[in-house]
Amino acid sequence: MTNPQNVASSTLEACARQADQHFVETFGCKPRWLVASPGRVNLIGEHTDYNEGFVLPMAIDRYVVVAADINTELSGKNSGKSAVFHSANLGGSFRVSLGKIKKSVPGNWTNYVKGVLAGFLEREFSLPSFNAVIQSSVPLGGGLSSSAALEVSVATLLEALLDTSILPKEKALLCQQAEHQFAGVPCGIMDQFSSVFGQEDALMLIDCRSQEIKPIAFTSPDVTILITNSSVDHELAGSEYRERRQQCEAAAKSLGVPSLRDVTLAGLEKSSTELGDTINRRARHVISENIRTLHAADAICAEDWNTAGELMFASHDSLRDDYEVSCQELDLLVDIAREIGVEGGVYGSRMTGGGFGGCTVSLVKTDSLASVKQTLSSRYLKSAGIAPRLFATRPARGAHVIRA
Ligand code: GLA
Repeated sequence: MTNPQNVASSTLEACARQADQHFVETFGCKPRWLVASPGRVNLIGEHTDYNEGFVLPMAIDRYVVVAADINTELSGKNSGKSAVFHSANLGGSFRVSLGKIKKSVPGNWTNYVKGVLAGFLEREFSLPSFNAVIQSSVPLGGGLSSSAALEVSVATLLEALLDTSILPKEKALLCQQAEHQFAGVPCGIMDQFSSVFGQEDALMLIDCRSQEIKPIAFTSPDVTILITNSSVDHELAGSEYRERRQQCEAAAKSLGVPSLRDVTLAGLEKSSTELGDTINRRARHVISENIRTLHAADAICAEDWNTAGELMFASHDSLRDDYEVSCQELDLLVDIAREIGVEGGVYGSRMTGGGFGGCTVSLVKTDSLASVKQTLSSRYLKSAGIAPRLFATRPARGAHVIRA
């Protein structure tokens, strides 16, 4: 999701307070419900989810908060019920009739909301008329899943309004479907799963074929996850994402398997000439990334930060050279992190999310956090002429109701 402003304060409490206040200012009364859903950062396992592979994300302490209340006076002409959404930092207000939901123009943030409403209506839930205010502290367009956080927050709100709960997995899949059908992005399951299932103190090793999640404890005070926003929007992401997905499907088809999950590096090697250079490199990234992800999960369990960090650097190289979804600015940030090295406090670093801009994720020695941030900022500013935005984060709680 791309949008210019992101003015919400970073903590959940502050974001919730702003949502509460905006609701009072906009609708003239205190909202009954407050719900929150986090963004995510992926440590490793990039562009593997739609190949039924492995990913290792965590929810971050940046949230989309929705404040809402029933509005008995709202009624549309035909279907009778409607909802009003207002968001200062996503851009404006809209009213939607809760009959047949129509898509907005492509690229508009309202599609994420509408897609989730449509998913609930399709499941024959009878929604009441309501007013809502959305406040986001997830950096927009930064590859930290601001759109999945928005979808999951709306789904969490609807559950609260209806005083019901749908199975968490079904909720994540409903939100993924909203992204496919309304936003037109053929994403995998990682982002919505992370926002629904995020837990404090653990990464999630998700098997995107079985959809099982194995928590990987991340509690050591010695290491910190640092997110660095290149401040470059991932504009190409939509069309290139679709193309990568098609290339992977084409590779699996040529190799006679349901997905690239079923191919080994040795198997790929045998067929490399038939596949051609580009498709071969795309497949090599996916297959090697699955191996790196499983290996990294083991290394993190063993608190072997050197190995985990090396795997992150290797993941970046593969995304840059074989999958070709990086960009100069992300490469520059990772190069600076490499120069800082373990001595200077960086175990590993890589681009995170879909690519073509957005953020890098780095595994950093907690003791060296301040100096690492300083060096990354000053060298990036000097070479790219852009000030990066950095923040440290820890695994955070998934979607939840703050006030019911
Ligand atoms: C985007 C998609 C995810 C995943 C990543 C790349 O964030 O929404 O499903 O494919 O890109 O790993």
